[in-house]
Amino acid sequence: MAIAVMLGLAVPSAGAQDATRGKAVYEACIVCHELDPKSTGQGPTLIGVIGRRSGALDDFRYSRAIVRANIVWDESTLDAYLADPQSYIVGMRMPFGGIPDKAERADLIAYLKTLR
Ligand code: HEC
Repeated sequence: MAIAVMLGLAVPSAGAQDATRGKAVYEACIVCHELDPKSTGQGPTLIGVIGRRSGALDDFRYSRAIVRANIVWDESTLDAYLADPQSYIVGMRMPFGGIPDKAERADLIAYLKTLR
């Protein structure tokens, strides 16, 4: 009974950003974006990505497209980029199709904010 009540109470907040759920979404990113600030795997590290300019890390060889885009990664730019990377920055070379679900992107961005 108590559990049912608690679940009922949790429903209204289901739309809120949830970094714990976002961590699970990040499983789709981790093969290329390892959680190590020094590691440059296939993709640049996303530790500290919030507030960073696109293509800003010296030790990663970015495409010209992402450097030229010169955008600041925040909630709204990340949301647009992760929805459809290739359309948002034409010519960048992240081989990832995007996350169509807005709630999943919000959770993921909440998680990215914890990567400092
Ligand atoms: C198959 C490998 C791969 C996967 C999977 C992948 N990425 Fe990337 N990502 C890259 C590469 C490569 C770049 C650099 C693109 C360029 O230089 O044009 C990049 C760039 C980025 C950038 C820009 C970083 C910067 O320093 O400007 C962000 C943000 C990003 N990825 C987020 C994500 C997220 C979040 C996911 C998971 C939903 C993800 N990526 C999945 C390979 C990947």
